[in-house]
Amino acid sequence: MKHNTFYDLCNDVAASIEQAVSGLVGKPEAGMVLRIGADGTPTEKIDETAENAALQVLERDGISMRFVSEELGEKTIGKEPEFTFVLDPIDGTFNAVHSIPFYCVPIAICGSDLSDIRYGYVKNLVTGDIYTAERGKGAFFNNEPIHVSSRSELSELSVISYSHRPHAVAINNHIARRVRVFGCAALELCYVASGVFDAFIDMRGMLRITDIAAGKLIVKEAGGMITDGNGELLSTPLDVKKRVNLVASNGKAHDKLLELV
Ligand code: IPD
Ligand code: CA
Repeated sequence: MKHNTFYDLCNDVAASIEQAVSGLVGKPEAGMVLRIGADGTPTEKIDETAENAALQVLERDGISMRFVSEELGEKTIGKEPEFTFVLDPIDGTFNAVHSIPFYCVPIAICGSDLSDIRYGYVKNLVTGDIYTAERGKGAFFNNEPIHVSSRSELSELSVISYSHRPHAVAINNHIARRVRVFGCAALELCYVASGVFDAFIDMRGMLRITDIAAGKLIVKEAGGMITDGNGELLSTPLDVKKRVNLVASNGKAHDKLLELV
């Protein structure tokens, strides 16, 4: 690998994406639908531009990897893949297209499935803030250690909850102190990791592994808990067509939240 660390590699990929999409953010052409992507949702111009920019960096690096990405699905780079590079070229496409300042690049370095994540990286493309985690070594915000919150009373929680579709959850019936939805799952998970929010719930069955892989490790390394709606650990195959439900929390409120969903 030409890059010395996963951090350097992810950072270069994110920088390349940032540069490539900078002229598109907030422009109608960014949202032009080009085709249906491998994940089964529309690939917009900004998504494809971002993915191509990432691929250029990875192919130039020379290391062999399995590349799993929302738009193209899967591609093997080189002859003997050493890891799986899981990318959502832009998480929060709607936000980016409409200049809503909340979108990011999430990357996870994985083994075979969602239970085997070695490194997580999320760059907020608006502020430039970077969240990282290495398995067993903690989670960081701009290189400073982060930790989940310690609140456990439902009435005190600040929760990110996607519940406008059929699986509406009781948490939204004003049980929690605050309920928000920002439209960028990877970054929302990082807000749980850093203790700003106490939990993230998405019971729509729509999240892809590319949306959550990086954030999953970052929440776990920050001391949090992350399961599906039944409290089971996630070990979904690294396939962009798969969909999952998710409850991520500081751990202290996890059981109470599971009861509500
Ligand atoms: C979307 C965001 C959003 C989530 C949607 C995803 P995209 O990802 O993560 O938070 O609610 O389900 O599709 O399409 O912007 O990569
Ligand atoms: Ca995306």
